[in-house]
Amino acid sequence: MAVEKTLVLVKPDGVKRGLIGEVISRFEKKGLKIRALKMIWLSKEKAQEFYSVHKDKPFFNDLVEFITSGPIVAMVLEGDSAISVVRLMIGATDGRKAAPGTIRGDFALSIQDNVVHASDSPESFEREFKVIFTETEIVPEY
Ligand code: CMP
Repeated sequence: MAVEKTLVLVKPDGVKRGLIGEVISRFEKKGLKIRALKMIWLSKEKAQEFYSVHKDKPFFNDLVEFITSGPIVAMVLEGDSAISVVRLMIGATDGRKAAPGTIRGDFALSIQDNVVHASDSPESFEREFKVIFTETEIVPEY
């Protein structure tokens, strides 16, 4: 068993559509532990840093525009194999291809407006987490 942490964002489309509770509820019911949680509105600079791995992609500017178009809810979740478990629960990037039962499969019909983001590896978590949170914003183990 490997206890991992992962970073999840409810993106501006999810917040605007009133899906914050739905998304958090799915992770809570699964048994993942919330170690940090906050609502923020990312600056352009933070958004560019967060999505820096995509900086050469044709959709980069649109992605930064989208993720800064409204507030987001960011959280750190913890649990056994949390990274792969959460990726399974959110579904494929393109909401049109995401399996029913996944968050994107149930709530998204777009590749950009896809409700949630989640870290894809421990390295991504370490990088992404530092853009959004400080160490002191993670509550002690409980
Ligand atoms: P996310 O999991 O947050 O990681 C990068 C994001 O870029 C992705 O979700 C989508 O919101 C967005 N994205 C990925 N591919 C495309 C694409 N081809 N066109 C537009 N946006 C994309």
